[in-house]
Parts: sequence; structure tokens; C-alpha cells
Amino acid sequence: MNVQRIINRVCGQFLITNIKTSVFSIRLKHTKNDLENHQTKIMGRGLPEKKPLPGVKSIILVASGKGGVGKTTTAVNLACAMKVIKPEKEIGLLDADVFGPSVPLMMNISGEPMLNDDHLIEPLLNYGVKCMSMGLLVSGENAVVWRGLMVMQALDRLTRHVAWGPLDCLVVDTPPGTGDTHLSLAQNLPIDGAIVVTTPQSAALQVTKRGVNMFEKLKVPIIGLVENMSHAMCPKCGTKNFIFGNETKKTADEMGLEIIESFEVDSNMSECINSGKPAIYALPDSIHAEKYRQLANKVFKYIANKDNKQAKAKEQ
Ligand SMILES: Nc1ncnc2c1ncn2[C@@H]1O[C@H](COP(=O)(O)OP(=O)(O)O)[C@@H](O)[C@H]1O
Ligand SMILES: [Mg+2]
Repeated sequence: MNVQRIINRVCGQFLITNIKTSVFSIRLKHTKNDLENHQTKIMGRGLPEKKPLPGVKSIILVASGKGGVGKTTTAVNLACAMKVIKPEKEIGLLDADVFGPSVPLMMNISGEPMLNDDHLIEPLLNYGVKCMSMGLLVSGENAVVWRGLMVMQALDRLTRHVAWGPLDCLVVDTPPGTGDTHLSLAQNLPIDGAIVVTTPQSAALQVTKRGVNMFEKLKVPIIGLVENMSHAMCPKCGTKNFIFGNETKKTADEMGLEIIESFEVDSNMSECINSGKPAIYALPDSIHAEKYRQLANKVFKYIANKDNKQAKAKEQ
């Protein structure tokens, strides 16, 4: 079976599911409070058993409440930096933003992936990182308007029907918000930790709090906050301009979280990422590249710490 048929099969099921879902929601006429209570109840229930991905040792989510804060930029540079500082490690990058996949552009990958003898989709490799994205399976012009069960099925394909292993770490880029994708990933995969990306303005931080709340309810440990676009530096006098405000530290303290890295606005960053050559490779001597290497180091340490704790717990 080819990849397109796999996708068609998912799409066909979605159409039926979606019609059923719409009829259902009209009939019930849920209020916002009803839905929130229902969601809290579902999230509070015992979660289904999480099945590991074969051959994948650890999974790290990159998330945020708001869109456009630099989540994919962080995920792409983090995955590449992990490969750069420890070339012996196998690193993967999953684009779980099925609605607006941008990993193919940012990692400069294209073309229809192949199926192997086990009928698993082979990830595409660039910069030494194994990548998979809905953007490789659905052509650019076809907007994806899925929800609910369809999203879950698409994610199932992108996780369990891809020949990921062997991998030391799979970095997962997620869509903005606190929706079906996050619930599905957190309920089905053993997530080792989440990095929450935010910008310093209050609108973004408010949504960040909601995202952190969701991960706490889903029992996904948060590694820390990455503050992106913290400030812009005047190229002439070096003055820091806090164009988006300066509220991140206060919010991080309120949530008991650490800001693990902070990146200023830099036009080179967007140029690199939009041309498909992440800063870590295009500008290896830049401050941003150095900070991504430090971030990668922190993630490796976090994973090693977690592995040690799990090994000790098993011994007892
Ligand atoms: N530190 C930064 N300085 C300048 N531009 C940035 C920075 N971080 C991200 N960008 C740009 O902002 C835009 C949104 O980033 P993206 O990673 O796609 O956000 P998200 O995944 O959260 O929607 C992109 O065009 C990206 O190149
Ligand atoms: Mg994105």
C-alpha cells in the first residue's frame, strides 16, 4: 500500500466521523462551562496505557499556547543542535502540526516518503535528523481541516506507522493551543518532558499558563520555558528594546518554572529558518546557535537524569 492510500483511508474515516461529530454537537448544545468540566473530567480520569514507540528511547515535546511565538524554530534548531553536539546520537523530528506543517520548509525536505518492507513510512533525513511531517504526505495546496478523531488517526500514522527507530530522542513540534493534538500525544505516548515556548507579552504569557496547566493535568513534566523574541538589540548603540514587554520571569516564577533559554529577535534567524538552513548550521558562530547548543545540552542532561531515576526506581 502506498502512502497516499494510507492518507486516503484516514481521510475517508474522518468524513464520516466529522459528520457524526457535528450532528452530535448540535444536538447537545454544550455550553462552554459544560465542555470545560467534561474535558477536566476526562483528563482527570485514569489515562490509557501509553505504549512506547518501538526503538525510540525518549520523546520531548515543544509546545506553546500561542501561534507564531517560535515553536517550530525552537524544535528545528533544538533537534539539529542535539545532533551537532552529540553526532553519535540518533535524533528525530516529528511535525505534529497537522494543520500548518512547517518542518518541511524549515528542514529543507520534500518529496513523497517511501514505505519499507514492513509497510512503515521511512522518515526523510536532512542535517542528520530523521524527519516526518503531514506536509510530506498532503500536497501544499490541500488545506487540512481535520478535528477530533481524524487528528488522532493522522497522529497515529505519523508516530506508529513511521520507521523511527533506532532513536535516542524524538523532538515533537506541536500546533498552537491546547487541543486534540496535545491530548492525543500525551495520552498515547510516554512523553519524557515538554519545553514551553513563549514570547514576553502578556497575551502570550496568559495562553502559556493555560498550556502549562494542561500539561500538569496530563502529567507531562515540563522541562522549562524558552523565552523567544525576548528583546531587540539596537544594532547601533546596543540598547535592549523590550518591544514585546518583559513579563516572562514574573510569570515563570508564578508557575514555579525555570526559563531555560532566552532568544532575542534577530532577522538572521528568520532568514535562516525560511531558507531551510537552521541557524545552528547557517550561522554556527552566532549567539543564537550557541544558545541552541546549550539548550540541547540541557535536554540531554534532563533525559539522562530521568533515565537514572527510572533505573534506580526499578532497582528498589
Ligand atoms: N528569535 C527570532 N528572531 C526573529 N524571527 C524569529 C525568531 N524566532 C522565530 N522567528 C520567526 O517568527 C516566525 C514564526 O516562527 P515559528 O517558529 O513558525 O512559530 P510557531 O511555530 O510558534 O508558529 C517565523 O517566520 C520565524 O522565522
Ligand atoms: Mg509552528
